[in-house]
Amino acid sequence: MSPSSPSSTPTGLFVSFEGIDGAGKSTHIAHLAEAFQAQGRVVTQTREPGGTPLAEKLRAMVLGDAMDPLTESLLVFAARRDHLITVIEPALARGEAVLCDRFTDATFAYQGGGRGFDLAVLTTLEQWVQATPALQGQALRQPDLTVWFDLAPEIAAARLADARAPDRFESQPVAFFQAVVAGYAARATAQPERFAKINADQPREQVWQDLHDHFVQRGWLNKST
Ligand code: TYD
Repeated sequence: MSPSSPSSTPTGLFVSFEGIDGAGKSTHIAHLAEAFQAQGRVVTQTREPGGTPLAEKLRAMVLGDAMDPLTESLLVFAARRDHLITVIEPALARGEAVLCDRFTDATFAYQGGGRGFDLAVLTTLEQWVQATPALQGQALRQPDLTVWFDLAPEIAAARLADARAPDRFESQPVAFFQAVVAGYAARATAQPERFAKINADQPREQVWQDLHDHFVQRGWLNKST
């Protein structure tokens, strides 16, 4: 799908990428961006929390400063609102592929699962933040697809052991990440058509192959890329 002619409505594609810290999503997102670009598609590659100057400031606070789970939830949703309105919605309106490293499922997994914060409050915030004028009050903006890089917390912890200085989440114990995984699993069970679960406990080339196959199956990439 290339950006459409002026007479038709552009069809943007919104994909989010999720998984616990250490699941290895970053390199695959970059690779996917290249595959889309090789087929002539304009890509907006972005991340949460972050993706705008304001949201990146909020990211630094969320990853660096101690705070209670409600404050944390409000900050990630505030960052998301700014990101959605100023970057994601305009890119989708131009017909681009938006590849977003984490979105709202991360909030349900980390703040809801990991921190044990109230899911009903998160659901309310999701409804406020993801209602956008482009959807004319009909539904919430959600990714067309969410790729979940699934990895056991013990394996992720071993991978992270050699990584750079951990942030407030990366320094959490394995039990926290077990709760995060349960949070992702609950979201995937509730909206199975939106999720593609990829086994991240494989050599990187095989993970890429699985990911690529999924995009080909959906008709979003040609076999050749
Ligand atoms: P991450 O996406 O893993 O970036 P990096 O690869 O640079 O470490 O880090 C973002 C962290 O923020 C991650 O630990 C999950 C956390 N997070 C939340 O707790 N809630 C959210 O809503 C989002 C988007 C991220």
